[in-house]
Order: sequence, then C-alpha cells, then structure tokens
Amino acid sequence: MTTNSSNTDILYLLAAGIAVGGTGYFIKRLLSESSVKKAKVPAGTGPKKGKYHSDPDAPPPEPTPLYITPEQVKTRDDRPWRPFRWPYHQTMSIFKLDVNHWLDMDKYYYDYIKEKERVFHTYGEDNIGRLPGSEEACLELMEMVKSHMLKRYPLLFTTEDNGVHVKNELTGETLDFSLPLKLDPLIYISKMAKEDFYIVLKDDEGVHRLMAAAVPFPGGGFGVKHKLGKTLDVIHTNVPYYENKLKPSMERWFAKMAPADLVERASWFISWDHRLLLTSIYSLINGEKIQSDVQPTEFNVRVERQTLRRLPKSKAIIFTNHPVFHSIEEMKDEPLVPSLIRKIIFEAPEGIIKYKNFESFRDHIVPYLNKLVDRQIELGLIKEDTPIKTLPSYPFAQFVKDSDVMKGWTNPKYPGNYSEKFREEVKDSPEFEMKTYAKMGGAVGFH
Ligand code: HEM
Ligand SMILES: *[C@@H]1O[C@H](CO)[C@@H](O)[C@H](O)[C@H]1NC(C)=O
Repeated sequence: MTTNSSNTDILYLLAAGIAVGGTGYFIKRLLSESSVKKAKVPAGTGPKKGKYHSDPDAPPPEPTPLYITPEQVKTRDDRPWRPFRWPYHQTMSIFKLDVNHWLDMDKYYYDYIKEKERVFHTYGEDNIGRLPGSEEACLELMEMVKSHMLKRYPLLFTTEDNGVHVKNELTGETLDFSLPLKLDPLIYISKMAKEDFYIVLKDDEGVHRLMAAAVPFPGGGFGVKHKLGKTLDVIHTNVPYYENKLKPSMERWFAKMAPADLVERASWFISWDHRLLLTSIYSLINGEKIQSDVQPTEFNVRVERQTLRRLPKSKAIIFTNHPVFHSIEEMKDEPLVPSLIRKIIFEAPEGIIKYKNFESFRDHIVPYLNKLVDRQIELGLIKEDTPIKTLPSYPFAQFVKDSDVMKGWTNPKYPGNYSEKFREEVKDSPEFEMKTYAKMGGAVGFH
C-alpha cells in the first residue's frame, strides 16, 4: 500500500509535529484462538456465550455510568483473563459483551496512551491510517467513543459544553471537537481509549476490507499500513486453520451481526516483557531461541482482549484489541493454570505452536512449570491425576466473582503491577526495535 493523502494528513496532524521515521520493516503478528465454553461469571461482568442476533435496526445499548475517579483508576485492575482452553481447537470463541466493558479502564491507561504517542510519532503511518471511503465510519466511531467515555466514566471524561470540548482527566488533555476538526478522527479516538481500533467495511462486491486502523500495539510489530485495503481473508492468511475453522463462522457471524450485538474474545500468547508494539517473543525469528538468562518470573501471558461491534449508520464493523498481561508467577496458585499452560505449549495443534512461537522458549520455561505443577499437588490445589481441561471460571480467573465493578479485579493473593517494568522497557524500546527490524530486514514472515 503506497502512501495516500489521508495518511499524510494524519501524520501532519499528529500533535507534536516530530519528524516521522518509519522503518518500514514488519514482522509477524498475532492475536489468538478460540472455544465453546460457557462462562460462569456473575451477571454484568460478562462475557457470555453469544448465540442470538438482534434486529438490524435495534439501537446499540448505552453504557451505565461508573463513578470512578482518576485516583481510583491508579489502583484499578481489569478483569482477570484466563483464556486457556483444553482441548484446544481453533474456533471463534466469542462471548456476548456487556457494553459497559467495551472500553475498559485500568491502572495502565496513562502509560498506554503515552506509548501510543511514542509509536505514532516514531512510526506514523505504519501504525495509523485510513483509506478514502472510510471518512463517515471514522467520524461515527469517534462520536461513539466520545459519548461512550462521557457516559461510562463521568469523572474521567468531562465536558462543560455538551461535548464540544472534552477533558480527559487522566491525561489532563482537553480535546477540542469543534468543527472543522483539528485532528484526524483516529487521533481523537486514540487519545481517549487505550485500545487499538480496526474499521472494516464491505466493498461494492460485498467483501469485507480493512479501511482504517489505529494499531499502535500489534505485539508482533506488523505495520498496519500493509493491511489497509486488504480483505479479511488476506489479513488472516497466516492465521492457523483460518480457512477451514474460522472463516466460515466469521462470515456467518458478520452477516447477522447487528449494532446491538456486541461480542468479545480473548486470545493470548506468552512473552517475557510488556512491550506493546514489538514484544520479545516476536523478535525471535528463524528458529532463534530465548536468551538463557531470562528468569522464570519474567514470563507472562499476554492476553489480546478483543471486541466486535457494528456502527449503526455506516454499518462499519469495529474490531478493537488491547493487551493485558498476567505473569505466570501471579497465577501460580490458581488450580490447573500451570498444568494448562504446560500442556498447551507442548501439545497444541502444530499450527498454533508455530504461530505463537512456543518452541522458542518452551524448553527454557518447562522446569519452572514442572515446579509449579508439583507445588500445586503438594498444596492440594490439584491431584496428580486431575484431568487437565478448561477452567470452570473460563475465560476468567476464579476470583472474578469476588470483586466488584467499582474496585476492579485486583488479584487478592498476588497483586500484579508491571508499571515500573513497563516504563523501563519503553525506554529501551527504540533500540530494541531498531535492532530487531535490522535483523529481520526483509526476511520470512514479513507482510
Ligand atoms: C473484523 C475485523 C478483524 C480484523 C481487522 C482482524 C485482524 C487481525 C489481524 C491483523 C491479525 C494478525 C494476523 C497476522 O498474524 O498476520 C489477526 C489474527 C487473528 N484473528 Fe482477526 N481480525 C478480525 C476479526 C477476527 C474475528 C471475528 C476472529 C474470530 C472470531 C478473528 C480471529 C483471529 C485469529 C484466531 C487470529 C490469529 C491470532 C490469534 O490466535 O488470535 N479475527 N486478526
Ligand atoms: C505500581 O507501580 C508504580 C511504579 O512503581 C507505582 O507508581 C504505582 O503506585 C503502583 N501501583 C499500585 C496500584 O501499586
């Protein structure tokens, strides 16, 4: 995809006006897989298995206000995702989404918004852009995100003139929505929500194409620029079992998905940092293995929490993605979690093992996982012969039921906090990215 004028506008409008040094190297990327389990979680915490479609003209649900303060956000944790499934087949594994969770809020919000700025200023149109024909959808999405934030988080997003100016109380920035708009709609969206956004429209032939995207956190470092204008089939070319297992159900779902039908899913992979644009595991290519000095406690599960909804006017499909990290260490006393992870990294379908690069680290991590499994047996959390299967609380940790929507979902036993590590890693990121992209320059897996 060559540079087009709308992309150039976006770069021009990027507030700081820093010169953009896109490297143009891209590597493989990932989100994740699927299942068919019912979530046993209390009402309102979602997700539930979605089966039924609404009337195509039914209005989308509105969020209810959550009066959390900026101070409360600082200690707030997202819902504790544990999306491990066994048996592990590639399926859609979508759940009905409570609109209140469309754009979640947690203590990493500020750091994520700042990291978005760095990525956009450094790589510009590699990670944000849109094609002609997406204008209406982008504006509609901007309005939807704005009104969602104002309604859902009245103390975090405030306005005194009915939304012409909106203050983000978390970053301190006031966004000016007066016309003509000063910034690209995708930038406003990115300054309000910590999610990545993909905007998909049907073309004249009825084929779904990615028409706009603001994707600073792909994890595998792919440049969304190369995906703009592509069909969903082409975008998912590298996804294992897409053609047989995913595509048919996806197309069926999209055919009926109404604006009132929100769904979410969570895919995951394992890494040993918290870098959002390009993470350690996908910096390893061509069979490269993890560095031998990585400590077991550094391993985490990166959950790619995704949502899907349709805009009522433009009919665009909005796909969001945002990463949440849970270290394996903080999950060590949750029955079967270490056993499930060990089983999946060695015995998942071959395509998934390759896609998630499990081979690059699994021999390194297995002594640690063995230790954790033995520990669970000693503590009586599991038995030697407890069958390894999807958790009863799937896709969440058991403690999801013990917390509440005001406080968030902090792990009661091992509260996690990767803020400091994250900030250190961000400092190293430019160098890490340069080295990795140089190493990859044009090699296999780029797209
Ligand atoms: C409609 C908008 C969607 C967009 C724009 C989108 C985009 C993407 C992108 C960019 C990737 C990375 C591909 C790569 O590795 O090169 C990906 C992976 C993937 N997508 Fe989608 N996707 C969409 C919908 C869906 C849906 C509805 C499903 C299934 C329910 C799905 C399932 C997957 C799976 C399984 C992967 C592989 C990574 C993983 O294991 O999650 N996608 N998608
Ligand atoms: C998490 O760590 C950061 C950085 O060290 C610190 O400023 C913050 O207060 C911590 N948050 C919580 C909830 O402990």
